[in-house]
Amino acid sequence: NRNGIDFAVADLSLAEFGRKEIRLAEHEMPGLMALRREYSGAYPLKGARISGSLHMTVQTAVLIETLVSLGAEVRWASCNIFSTQDHAAAAVVVGPHGTVEEPKGVPVFAWKGETLEEYWWTAESMLTWPDGGGPNMILDDGGDATLLVHKGAEYEKAGVVPSADENDPEEWKIVLDTLRASLAADRGKWTKIAEGIRGVTEETTTGVMRLYQLAAAGQLLFPAINVNDAVTKSKFDNRYGIRHSLIDGINRGTDVLMGGKVAVICGYGDVGKGAAESLRGQGARIIVTEIDPICALQAAMDGYDVQVLEDVLDKADIIITTTGNKDVVRVEHMAAMKHQAIVGNIGHFDNEIDMAGLQRYPGVRRINIKPQVDEWVFPDGKSILVLSEGRLLNLGNATGHPSFVMSNSFSNQVIAQIELFTKHQEYDKEVYRLPKKLDEKVARIHLEALGGKLTKLTKDQAEYIDVDVEGPYKPEHYRY
Ligand code: NAI
Repeated sequence: NRNGIDFAVADLSLAEFGRKEIRLAEHEMPGLMALRREYSGAYPLKGARISGSLHMTVQTAVLIETLVSLGAEVRWASCNIFSTQDHAAAAVVVGPHGTVEEPKGVPVFAWKGETLEEYWWTAESMLTWPDGGGPNMILDDGGDATLLVHKGAEYEKAGVVPSADENDPEEWKIVLDTLRASLAADRGKWTKIAEGIRGVTEETTTGVMRLYQLAAAGQLLFPAINVNDAVTKSKFDNRYGIRHSLIDGINRGTDVLMGGKVAVICGYGDVGKGAAESLRGQGARIIVTEIDPICALQAAMDGYDVQVLEDVLDKADIIITTTGNKDVVRVEHMAAMKHQAIVGNIGHFDNEIDMAGLQRYPGVRRINIKPQVDEWVFPDGKSILVLSEGRLLNLGNATGHPSFVMSNSFSNQVIAQIELFTKHQEYDKEVYRLPKKLDEKVARIHLEALGGKLTKLTKDQAEYIDVDVEGPYKPEHYRY
């Protein structure tokens, strides 16, 4: 705690470097800056107490400071143990007008290389406000903040935190321990927090899936906006963002030449499409695995070989998971890979790759090459390189997506926060998407910034294709 701000970051003296990069990023984030201008003086988020759980990068710093400039009070944690950029975290705490001695920014609880225990401590700290209250809004990426509030309230109602199952992942045991400790300290904490929340806006595919599961079970405690499925989010960030940051992560992690190598991309959704394009751009020969015949056919028509993983392990040099599913690369796959094959995941959670199984494999040895790069040596002497311990490698080994694409995603986040904060009475405890008109607004701002010119419909043409001259230009069912 310094100058009334509680925080936990790696090194506050990195703030000056962070501020310089934030300044450069602001120019590359025209959507966020346009929202600051549009709402200047109006403070639509005045009274909002936003707890945010999203990779604490330079781009996220611009998002946080946009929320603050619209009137919100904010507390932040990262949604992954490796994704924080320590200079960005420091700069956000210090704030644009503060100093290291007298910070005037936002409480941030995030540093690169947290343990899992520390991670869940940062999550709880971000959700616990110094006055003892909670947030009235959550901004989530992957759903961990939402999960903590829901599970906390559920176990408070039951009066007890269940014991972990033997087969539960290690991390779940830590979540239960975290909740057990907070339940012992304050029996009503999570129920109170849940009651005070007007809504959550969720950033990514995996978090959105969790929200729809809660809503279907009738367990969602507050309204949610699915930001991921704004077209200007998932069809841009998940695709073009990955196209940029996947090879960035592989390069910084390994410096291996990708041209001519065989790369297997597991999953051909939005992220998989960007991943395949990214590696094809380097001249890699791409093989795609899919469970969905439609996405598999898309991959084939895009010119990729569609195979099953088991059949291509003997030739794959790079294997990347993009599915949001679990157990996609299993330990028996890893044991059958080529010597020094590179294995990485770019989906949200680390269970796409069976890291627990790898650790238990008889006789396997782990040699740490450098942070977030490990060589795993099998008893036969053959080894594989695993990036970021199976966690999303673009944020673990590199710095995530670049500013311009995140400006699209985060503009949707800001719009969604304003919508739920100011109109929460109009929403039920369901999952909603933003209106298409706002999606088009976000696209328009970024197209202009790139110097693109839109063709204007004539009234006659608009009537002929049955749309309004000012949009929206497509029906809801259109898929882009
Ligand atoms: P998506 O649903 O569009 O694509 C996932 C694809 O994987 C689907 O086509 C599905 O059929 C396929 N799939 C599922 N199980 C499979 C299996 N066993 N083998 C092969 N394919 C399988 O989802 P999207 O938007 O592409 O997101 C994927 C993951 O990436 C999610 O966890 C999401 O949260 C995460 N994500 C990560 C980002 C990052 O910066 N690292 C950015 C955006 C999303």
